Amino acid sequence: MELVVERDYPTLSGVAADVVADVFREKSDARLVVPTGETPLGLYRNLADRKDRGEIDTSRLRVFQLDEYLGLALDDARSLYRWMREVFLEPLAIRDHQVTWLPGDAANLSEACQAYDRAVEQAGGYDLAILGLGPNGHLGFNEPPSGADAPTRVITLTPETVSSNARYWGGEDRVPRQALTAGMKQLLAARQILLLVSGPRKREILARTLQGPVTPEVPASFLQRAARVTVITDRDAMPAPVSLREV
Ligand code: F6R
Repeated sequence: MELVVERDYPTLSGVAADVVADVFREKSDARLVVPTGETPLGLYRNLADRKDRGEIDTSRLRVFQLDEYLGLALDDARSLYRWMREVFLEPLAIRDHQVTWLPGDAANLSEACQAYDRAVEQAGGYDLAILGLGPNGHLGFNEPPSGADAPTRVITLTPETVSSNARYWGGEDRVPRQALTAGMKQLLAARQILLLVSGPRKREILARTLQGPVTPEVPASFLQRAARVTVITDRDAMPAPVSLREV
């Protein structure tokens, strides 16, 4: 696991964009899974600027959705798909046929999850998983406890996640209690994983992710055992005892 500590959020976003742009250059048809949330927004803006300047080609990428609330149609303004479309897909001119989504309104959810896992498998797995870190250590919506083998599935959100996401919904009582999430198994098997972590509220969970016991209670701790993981963080999120070195 490589730990990169940047002085602030804009620098973190630029360095993350360098890593992602390198992946696009090396493999123009790379398969990626990308998060919503606040942390990757700077990265996405940076990539969109590079796209506008003609520095990256996104026409052959394949994008997999990371998670979705249950019961929302794709075009629902509150869906994570719409969020991903606005901040990532459209600015990067990625078209619908390049995207595999998680249909939160599927009639048969377990079939939809299996179809998603099959699609990832048939694509040869993810080349790059870009991930944010939940305040409770979740990856995607792999809430604690989530084991390393967990497939794509329906999950019940923890009270912590519900309360953390209440800001997007105008109150806790409006947040859906269930979601679909890409599974831990395929995320951890990604050829390259980029975990982005910013701000002091992530300090404690980042320490547990990097140095705590590897446990389903902190799903992100399984990254300690994954193949090629780069954690990019800003100083604000840095737990004090971790020195600026590779861990
Ligand atoms: C979002 C997602 C979540 C977030 C995590 C961090 O699609 O999968 O795991 O990445 O909750 O969210 P932010 O970046 O808002 O702190």
